[in-house]
Amino acid sequence: MFAKEQFPIGIDIGSSFIKLVQFKKSGNGYELSKFDILPVQQGIIADGAIVDKKILTRTLAELLRKTNISKGQACIGLSGQSSLIIKRITVPFMTEDELNLSIKFEAQQFIPFDLNAVSLDFHIIDKTPNADNQMEVLIVAVNKDLMNDYLEVISSVGLETVVVDTKQFALSNMYEFNYGVSEQRNIAIADIGASTVTLNIVQNGLPIFWRESTVGSNYHTDAIESTFNIPREDAERLKRGFPIEAISSEEAQSVIQKASDEIYADIYRSLEVFRSNFYNEEVYKIAICGGAALIKDFASSMSQRIDMEVDVIDPFRKIAIPDKINPSYIKEIVPIAAVAVGLALRRSGDR
Ligand SMILES: Nc1ncnc2c1ncn2[C@@H]1O[C@H](COP(=O)(O)OP(=O)(O)OP(=O)(O)O)[C@@H](O)[C@H]1O
Ligand SMILES: [Mg+2]
Repeated sequence: MFAKEQFPIGIDIGSSFIKLVQFKKSGNGYELSKFDILPVQQGIIADGAIVDKKILTRTLAELLRKTNISKGQACIGLSGQSSLIIKRITVPFMTEDELNLSIKFEAQQFIPFDLNAVSLDFHIIDKTPNADNQMEVLIVAVNKDLMNDYLEVISSVGLETVVVDTKQFALSNMYEFNYGVSEQRNIAIADIGASTVTLNIVQNGLPIFWRESTVGSNYHTDAIESTFNIPREDAERLKRGFPIEAISSEEAQSVIQKASDEIYADIYRSLEVFRSNFYNEEVYKIAICGGAALIKDFASSMSQRIDMEVDVIDPFRKIAIPDKINPSYIKEIVPIAAVAVGLALRRSGDR
């Protein structure tokens, strides 16, 4: 009865960084209690799946040492085009218990995988029947092998996984917590990581559409690396706005801009796919996160190219940052933490 409210450790395993976030209660709100990131060796995560469990386990163990965590409850987020399906479907009106029994049957025609190989979950969007006595349901299917690989890694570093979420839900959860729900207005949340761009359209706090592509911020690094024929570390430095010996940041800027243009074009395509799938429903603004959001002028030039309002998400907007954590460090990497924050906001028992 007097147990302190438990906050899980939000762990976002990306293809280039693992991010760890944990909150604690402070007054009426939340305070950041743990936050750190660690690079992941290239190639260890591919399309959301773990390619090398051993190396990932070692990296995660190191991050836990860095953050002084030896045990606890974790919340993880899954992603991946080939192993995760989130779809909005229409089913005959029924109760949640009834749907529990028939969800496999209802969902099978929408899931291109063997149903025995996936773990299936659902969320009823509107609990009142429409004119045809039907209702809309969001289904989530995830490949069991992929999920079990993550559970194995988490348990081998001594943590217990209490919630398995998807990165899409974590993002809409994080957004709603910090910015509230904008009813009836569709907002696009674009997570632009190293190897993937995920565009999520959120309506009333729920993701109703998502499209993932492999046009991530590695594009920038690849372009700089090959244009100037320099090592990857140097290309990374230039991308972050620092000059290197023979190349000024101005010279790098036009290469960066060109790579950004490809990312904008891809996001634009995703918006078009959404519009055509959803009968020309409009999106009123794009909120971006992920490492690419840290590139100088990325958001403002995206706004110009796509001709829409583009904001960089602050996942800690409603969260107190204690003095012991350097605020300029947080500011420097804040958009990278978006998914991990959404995960850390979950409670055990959530689904
Ligand atoms: N300060 C910065 N300026 C520019 N780019 C940065 C900065 N910090 C990180 N990045 C870039 O952001 C990317 C990492 O972002 P993020 O952590 O969101 O990716 P990820 O989650 O690991 O990847 P994915 O989601 O695609 O699996 C890398 O490509 C990195 O080079
Ligand atoms: Mg990511």
